[in-house]
Amino acid sequence: MKNTLNDKVAIITGATGGIGSKIAEELYNLGANIVLTGRKEASLNEIKNKLYQTDASKIGSVICFPIDLSNNNAAANLVTHTISEFGRINILVNNAAMLDAKLFLKTSTDFMNQMLQINFLAPMQLMQMSIPYMLRSKYGRIINITSLAYSMGDAGMSAYAATKGALTSLSKTVAAEYARREITINCIAPGLIETNALHKFPVLHREDLKKQIPANRYGRPEEIASLVGFLASQKASYINGQVIHVNGGLYR
Ligand SMILES: NC(=O)c1ccc[n+]([C@@H]2O[C@H](COP(=O)([O-])OP(=O)(O)OC[C@H]3O[C@@H](n4cnc5c(N)ncnc54)[C@H](OP(=O)(O)O)[C@@H]3O)[C@@H](O)[C@H]2O)c1
Repeated sequence: MKNTLNDKVAIITGATGGIGSKIAEELYNLGANIVLTGRKEASLNEIKNKLYQTDASKIGSVICFPIDLSNNNAAANLVTHTISEFGRINILVNNAAMLDAKLFLKTSTDFMNQMLQINFLAPMQLMQMSIPYMLRSKYGRIINITSLAYSMGDAGMSAYAATKGALTSLSKTVAAEYARREITINCIAPGLIETNALHKFPVLHREDLKKQIPANRYGRPEEIASLVGFLASQKASYINGQVIHVNGGLYR
């Protein structure tokens, strides 16, 4: 797999997060040029510096572009900036998300709209604006990070799960539209992964779910990142429109 992504340009949203920072490491180690995005500029720069320190022989470049995806212009600004820096986009990893639990009767329309913007509309806009460049370079890989929550139906997660379900349906249908054009679109649905986001959930709820995981442990962010690296590569050219669950066997 070494250097399998040389010359490719990858956008990673949510690169400051637990899973996103490991995805950045994976794609950079595979040789890609990467665009790191998140809201925290200082964290983005820290991640960039860490990547450059890990292996000075790597040939890919890393740039940081802080954005808030709740802003309707964020996707367009990100794509424009990527094109002005690199001139192409080959890989898009929609990983950023708003993770928040609320009981259904406390889920206001405003809350739902905010979640839809960050978890669904921004990834959709990024897909729409990146695909023309993928078509031009005859290489496109879109990897959308969804969640086990959308298929499992976890209490308190109605808004979050609905946005992830919408992103899943979108991915499958758009994958069918571009299947003949060297573009693949897949979803990775993580189970419970050890990041700060996991700790937003009440400890009893988390521990109860953990007991149901056949592997008897939470997942590690790098266990998501390694699959992103594979799906982004030429080796995964016939995997399209799929949802790949990475959850230690937890499924119901
Ligand atoms: N951890 C789990 O157990 C789990 C389970 C299922 C699915 N997932 C999915 O995995 C993905 C990564 O989650 P994680 O666990 O790594 O969470 P995390 O550590 O909390 O990271 C979330 C990332 O999303 C970014 N983000 C959030 N709101 C944003 C906004 N308005 N604009 C721009 N960026 C924003 C954050 O950026 P800043 O911090 O810079 O604001 C951060 O980089 C998400 O799609 C999540 O739904 C996680």
